[in-house]
Amino acid sequence: MIKKIFITLAIVLVIAQFFGTEKNDAETRELTVFVLETTPNSEVSNILASKCYDCHSNKTEYPWYANVAPLSYWINHHVEEGKEHLNFSDWSTYNTKRKKHKLEELIEEVEEGKMPLDSYENLHGEISATEKEILIDWAKIAIANY
Ligand code: HEC
Repeated sequence: MIKKIFITLAIVLVIAQFFGTEKNDAETRELTVFVLETTPNSEVSNILASKCYDCHSNKTEYPWYANVAPLSYWINHHVEEGKEHLNFSDWSTYNTKRKKHKLEELIEEVEEGKMPLDSYENLHGEISATEKEILIDWAKIAIANY
């Protein structure tokens, strides 16, 4: 009985590998407008690149395990949902009010430890208190400059 269940599961997993999910992999991250307007210095840019852009830009740097179903479904779901809420690659399409609001949300989410998602931090390393402070300081200045 148990053997049958395992064999069935194994077959389902093998078949699942053929159903790839749509990847978030534009040629470039396309952050020109966002960077021009919010002027992140290199420190801020590094934090955004290593902690945020994978789910909030048009290009995710996928780890190898992101190709393995069902993990791939789960990861791409996070990416799609993240982009829907906030996509730095689409910055030029946001109006000023929306941009400021997104930056305010960013401060809140980072302050409260909600971003990056826990599951992401488990695999990519946690964001440090210093990194949070650097992001928040930058976002406050960017809001003030709009
Ligand atoms: C693993 C994917 C992932 C990563 C990495 C990630 N996010 Fe998110 N983010 C999401 C998802 C999914 C949502 C929407 C659901 C939610 O709010 O939990 C979201 C929502 C947000 C929102 C709310 C936007 C709105 O107006 O609704 C902000 C702001 C945000 N993220 C900022 C960040 C920042 C800043 C980082 C890096 C420090 C980051 N995120 C890293 C997936 C991610």
